[in-house]
Amino acid sequence: MHLSRTAAVRVIPPEVSSRPAVIARGSDAIIAEISAGLLARRAATSPKYLYDSLGSRLFEAICELPEYYPTRTEAAIFARHGADIARAVGEGCTLIDLGAGNCAKAASLFPLLQPAQYVPIDISRDFLNEAVLRLQQRFPAIDMHALALDFSSTLALPDTVRQQGRVFFYPGSSIGNFTPHEAIAFLRRLRTDGASGAGECSLLIGVDLVKDSATLDAAYDDAIGVTAAFNLNMLRHVNQLIGADFDVSQWQHRAFFNAEEGRIEMHLEAREALVVTWPQGERHFARGERIHTEDSYKYTPRSFVELLREAGFAATRTWTDEAGWFAVVHARAMGLA
Ligand code: AVJ
Repeated sequence: MHLSRTAAVRVIPPEVSSRPAVIARGSDAIIAEISAGLLARRAATSPKYLYDSLGSRLFEAICELPEYYPTRTEAAIFARHGADIARAVGEGCTLIDLGAGNCAKAASLFPLLQPAQYVPIDISRDFLNEAVLRLQQRFPAIDMHALALDFSSTLALPDTVRQQGRVFFYPGSSIGNFTPHEAIAFLRRLRTDGASGAGECSLLIGVDLVKDSATLDAAYDDAIGVTAAFNLNMLRHVNQLIGADFDVSQWQHRAFFNAEEGRIEMHLEAREALVVTWPQGERHFARGERIHTEDSYKYTPRSFVELLREAGFAATRTWTDEAGWFAVVHARAMGLA
């Protein structure tokens, strides 16, 4: 076999060598952010702290649960409407995958979509490198350019990313972690920073839809407790990041659909009165008091198309499953005024 093809993949050098080998303590900014959240009247933490290496694997397990329908339903939409989606997006695009992870979702579209360039972006460098190396061997004709960065804080893309036919791929209803207001701000920034230069730009995005609350509740509070483990694991991660002394056994998982706000809320609830301490502070929790750990907003196809419009994107097509549980939307950036 010819190896010159696979050599085209740019492997990002691992960061591990420059890291201290002892404890992955958070930066001052991370410590300040978590501290402030824990000391707020209603304690809260960012959902990003759910994803240490165990958290990422627990999320992969969640995606296989019978109750957690989004991943499976979205994959079925891609499988059923792939040709139609490829026609809407157009051949030879520059596919920019936001939060690519193992790159499996994008890869499932490659045979029909045939992008000219694939740009997977993820914070987890090692995970990404491995996935891209494997993928490049399966699809040698696609130019692959992995970027290890936090796209929620920066979207300045290097010159090596083609300007023409940029398509931002944002599957999985990750957009649901933003409030609608934040989602609009994020998508506006995509359109202005991410699509700079000559080329047009579009968006292929997956979004979870409002449905009966029993189905939603079960998806976030599964029978064998994988989501509970995923939520509780955040406390172990925070112990590591800020040197806190959370005792996981004192907490329990709570998740429910808040119909007024149109979102699933995840919380951790104190089973008893307790105190948590860390170098920068301490917090008493009464029995039943909660830490708000995640929101996952749900939309109707109409409310989501309206949100896209407010962000400067005109929806061209929407695909859903038969039950109307999940939607995939293709939208074009409207001219920058
Ligand atoms: C990764 C944000 C799309 O909101 O469904 C799954 C995260 N949290 N179960 C979601 C999650 C609990 C997931 N997203």
